[in-house]
Amino acid sequence: MPRPSTAELHRYAIDLAREAGALAHGYFKRRETLTINDKGLQDMASEADLNTELLIRERLRRDFPGDAFLGEETGITDHVPGQGIWVVDPIDGTQPFVSGLSAWCVSIAYVRDGKLELGAVNAPARDELFAGAQGIPATLNGKPVTPNPSTTIRKGIVGVGHSPRVAPERLLALLRPFLEAGGMYFREGSGALAICYVACGRLVGFIEAQINSWDCLGALAVAQAAGLRSNDFLAGEGLRKGGPLLVGNEPVYAELEAIHRRSGHSG
Ligand code: IPD
Ligand code: CA
Ligand code: CA
Repeated sequence: MPRPSTAELHRYAIDLAREAGALAHGYFKRRETLTINDKGLQDMASEADLNTELLIRERLRRDFPGDAFLGEETGITDHVPGQGIWVVDPIDGTQPFVSGLSAWCVSIAYVRDGKLELGAVNAPARDELFAGAQGIPATLNGKPVTPNPSTTIRKGIVGVGHSPRVAPERLLALLRPFLEAGGMYFREGSGALAICYVACGRLVGFIEAQINSWDCLGALAVAQAAGLRSNDFLAGEGLRKGGPLLVGNEPVYAELEAIHRRSGHSG
């Protein structure tokens, strides 16, 4: 069977993100009936996370049995070099989700030959679906998006991600040079959505010291399709272990990279 084209997979991912988003949105509307399981400090999941991931995994197993799968809730299947892999966060922004806030999304990405090929990020409670792929422009609800033209963090807002996986000192070490450089931060609980907001110009950049592949790859494909720069997240162990992520246009990326370096780390 010929390998499906990027455009075919892109359309497929959009439809699947829509279907999974509808399931998750149903749970969101009756969230007071969900059983929330504590996975750790500030880390939780409910049957909404698991069942949304199972729906996506089952569709992919049926339609692309030759591909591997990595999801936040069910983990990674056997994955051999060269094999395509779908990377899924069924609900990114679980805290907003359980708190009744609309900043959550379904994120689906596809990585082939070690390269991020496409992504679809659906935020049903906001009626916003972002998508993008190699050679296909970034869109919001099907319309092309353009990043913010500002060439410095001083002229806009930067999404700053943080999770308890990272020691407080590391965030504080990042915030000092960031604020000294005139930056202003934004965090509403979904890294994927914040990265999509860079793609569509609402934010000028995004930075997180340590993020998982399932949190960011769907949105990173959108950002790349919008022409933005990022560090090489998939280099090394990015897919399985995550790593730092910096996103912006060329000058903003350079500014964020310098800030990240001043915080004691390199991007
Ligand atoms: C988290 C969110 C958060 C980011 C964390 C993620 P979850 O994912 O994307 O914004 O800062 O790194 O783990 O737990 O809501 O799926
Ligand atoms: Ca996530
Ligand atoms: Ca999640």
